[in-house]
Amino acid sequence: MLILIDHADPAAIEDTLSYLPVDGVTTNPTILARHGGNPLATLKRIKEILPYGSQLHAQLVSTRTEDMVKEAAALREVLGEAIFVKVPVTRQGYAAMPLLKQRGFLITATGIHSAMQGFMAAKAGCRYIAPYVNRMDNFGISGVRVAEDMHKMLRTQGIQADVLAASFKNSEQVLELVRAGIGAITAAPDVLAHLVGNPATEMAIAEQNQDFAQLIGSSKTWAELVEDENFPD
Ligand code: G3P
Repeated sequence: MLILIDHADPAAIEDTLSYLPVDGVTTNPTILARHGGNPLATLKRIKEILPYGSQLHAQLVSTRTEDMVKEAAALREVLGEAIFVKVPVTRQGYAAMPLLKQRGFLITATGIHSAMQGFMAAKAGCRYIAPYVNRMDNFGISGVRVAEDMHKMLRTQGIQADVLAASFKNSEQVLELVRAGIGAITAAPDVLAHLVGNPATEMAIAEQNQDFAQLIGSSKTWAELVEDENFPD
């Protein structure tokens, strides 16, 4: 299962990369606007800081099919062959998907709010299909359930695509999809941090280290103990 960062701030991305096993970055126009500045420069910077082999997803903003194909080609020119172009599941987007696939693009279908939208995008040649989990929850539809349905549909039908679940607001939504065996998720740095952060862990480790400090002296570690030949047996 891939874990991606849904963000465009290079500092926040670097911070997440420094401690979590993540596989790349997804962006969308809103995320890039939130970061500000030249969005192309931002994508180039993100590409620079990502380890070799990581994924980078950038969303097309054209609304006409032919323009989407041109826009994807322009992005590929600057960001390289490995770029994933995110294509909205609009009528024009569906029409663009097979054209992009024929041209060798890696495609992520985005803006998905139903299982059939995702299924049709996978059938049209997308490598990933991205359901908006939390946004569906906000409409009273279980986003997690829809993402699980999509995953089952792909496997049952033998389609070579994966669910890339997006739009998370809490770590419980992510956990349920990990359990379901979903192919990939993308979430903001704060949601990813909550996947591993737990105050009870901090407390337990602090308490153990305090006990050890009482035994060998504060601020000392095994390294000092190994060096200190005079420490009593
Ligand atoms: O990148 C698409 C998706 O993550 C949108 O998330 O937070 O705007 O619902 P959000």
